[in-house]
Amino acid sequence: MQDLKLLVLEGDGIGPEITRSTIDVISAVAPVMERRPTFEAMDIGFSALAKCGSTIPQDAVIAAKRADGVVLGPVSHNDYPPAEQGGLNPSGTLRKELELYANIRPAFTWDGLEAPAQCPFDLVVVRENLEGFYADRNMFQGGGEFLPEPGVALALRKITRKGSLRIARSGFELAQKLGKKNVTVIHKANVMRLSDGLFLECVREVAADYPQIELEELIVDAAAAHLVRNPARFDILITTNMFGDILSDLASELAGGLGLAGSLNVGDRFAVAQAQHGSAPDIAGLDTANPVSLILSAEMLLRHLKEDRAADAIADGVKEVLKHPATRTRDLGGQLGTQAFTQNLIAVIERGLK
Ligand code: IPM
Ligand code: MG
Repeated sequence: MQDLKLLVLEGDGIGPEITRSTIDVISAVAPVMERRPTFEAMDIGFSALAKCGSTIPQDAVIAAKRADGVVLGPVSHNDYPPAEQGGLNPSGTLRKELELYANIRPAFTWDGLEAPAQCPFDLVVVRENLEGFYADRNMFQGGGEFLPEPGVALALRKITRKGSLRIARSGFELAQKLGKKNVTVIHKANVMRLSDGLFLECVREVAADYPQIELEELIVDAAAAHLVRNPARFDILITTNMFGDILSDLASELAGGLGLAGSLNVGDRFAVAQAQHGSAPDIAGLDTANPVSLILSAEMLLRHLKEDRAADAIADGVKEVLKHPATRTRDLGGQLGTQAFTQNLIAVIERGLK
């Protein structure tokens, strides 16, 4: 049997606890996998900074490129020292170095779990992951932000034809795979005529290759309003980096909370499972974190790696345990700590495998 090599980067805050849970869950579905999962762990974040002076050592990037997939814990990059002192955002660096141009973020309501949304829904945000306004991951010297004079800050926003075409393609391919009929492109081309104009033009171009799928165009502020009013009208949303960052959090929160939000960073060669939420240093080490966001991100990674049976087993198990308050973590009205939640989830998954 071949190995499926997974690199585990724990990260900061609650990272060690939720990556532990995630590894345990992947191990539990190993019996239905095509390949045998193996785990290599490396330090990133504060632990790496203390050991080797960088929050994302080059070794970790190399290991990520050698692995079949990466499980990335959340990072406290806001609290890192400046880049000159080794404080780089590991998730930005990995996205860039591994060319993970698509960030796939499903958001859907759950049976038995109350959610702020007005109605049940099931959508996926397909976010461009390398361009836009993100100073730490675009290609300009010194990042995309600068101070031309005291009291004035400028930020550059980069949109390319190549980046826009490939994220559009990812979105339409996903729509086709999931049998979804509607793709919505979200933009602000009424104000950012050149950059979002280019983005929109590229999405339209790709849409022409998928005549059976309908393309709707929506301005980002209206999209936010529609998401709150009637999220069920959306299937697949394709958008630029920052709009996707914001709207994916909105959609996930509407579905029941960021703690349940799976997220996969993916490119043509590599894929990194990364929870949608942050590192929650205030509850680190307390065994109260909800590990579901990272577990569902790993589920997406396994599906991407063609381990569908394992992915289905995880998805079914999570659905089952979230139905009942007694088997939820505290953020969702339950009583269970991280470890007890995980052990119960594993028991439910294992029962399902029989
Ligand atoms: C996310 C996060 C990241 C981002 C942070 C950690 C840099 O908000 O993955 O959504 O801005 O992309
Ligand atoms: Mg975010």
